[in-house]
Amino acid sequence: MTEKTITKTEILNNVYTAQDHEQLREAYKAWASDYDSDLVDRFGYVAHISSAKAIDQALDGRHDAVILDAGSGTGLVGQELAKLGYRTLDALDYSQDMLDQAQSKGIYRSLMQADMKQPLPIANTTYDAVVCTGTFTYGHVTGEAFAELIRVTRPGGVIVFTVREGAYEEYGYRAAMLELETRGAWELVSFHDTPYQLKEGNTCKLCTYRVPEST
Ligand SMILES: C[S@@+](CC[C@H](N)C(=O)[O-])C[C@H]1O[C@@H](n2cnc3c(N)ncnc32)[C@H](O)[C@@H]1O
Repeated sequence: MTEKTITKTEILNNVYTAQDHEQLREAYKAWASDYDSDLVDRFGYVAHISSAKAIDQALDGRHDAVILDAGSGTGLVGQELAKLGYRTLDALDYSQDMLDQAQSKGIYRSLMQADMKQPLPIANTTYDAVVCTGTFTYGHVTGEAFAELIRVTRPGGVIVFTVREGAYEEYGYRAAMLELETRGAWELVSFHDTPYQLKEGNTCKLCTYRVPEST
């Protein structure tokens, strides 16, 4: 018997079936120190890699871009962006334990503890790009948060995020995304299915939007 006694199912249950905000925060507190090895090695998580590539593509390799990693967790996306040459990265998450892990990687300019279900403590049009990976999913943050991501992105800036397959329609993300498109609040750049956790065989929608130059 290995020292790691918590099963994959238990990990996922803790995170995806949390009944409220506090239970979810407790689940991440308990998971923070093992999150990277569990998610990447045990589950074959790859969404952080595809999200960073999507940001790179949308920014056309402009490495001076100022980027917000919303729902940063332990900084897996930031690490990939840093590998690609991006240096001005801010992390935002409501779990201080996840942020502590992110901080230890030394890749973020600043780290903010904030709740994406509330107005963000960030001025309008601060960022050239916002990335949000793994956070639009069961029991986490709903599409109501999209408006704040748009507000903090400069005109012409880009927003890249994943939405878990299954949650996409059932949790109202699709409707929220389309409503913002119809209102002209953002323009679709690309949208496709991509692997989420290779070893679990699941997928996500990888979405890239651009904030219009004039709104
Ligand atoms: C599955 S993790 C994804 C982390 C990272 N982006 C990645 O790809 O590994 C989801 C993250 O969302 C954060 N989160 C959940 N609800 C949140 C909220 N309301 N506000 C801010 N962050 C939240 C959790 O603390 C957790 O770090």
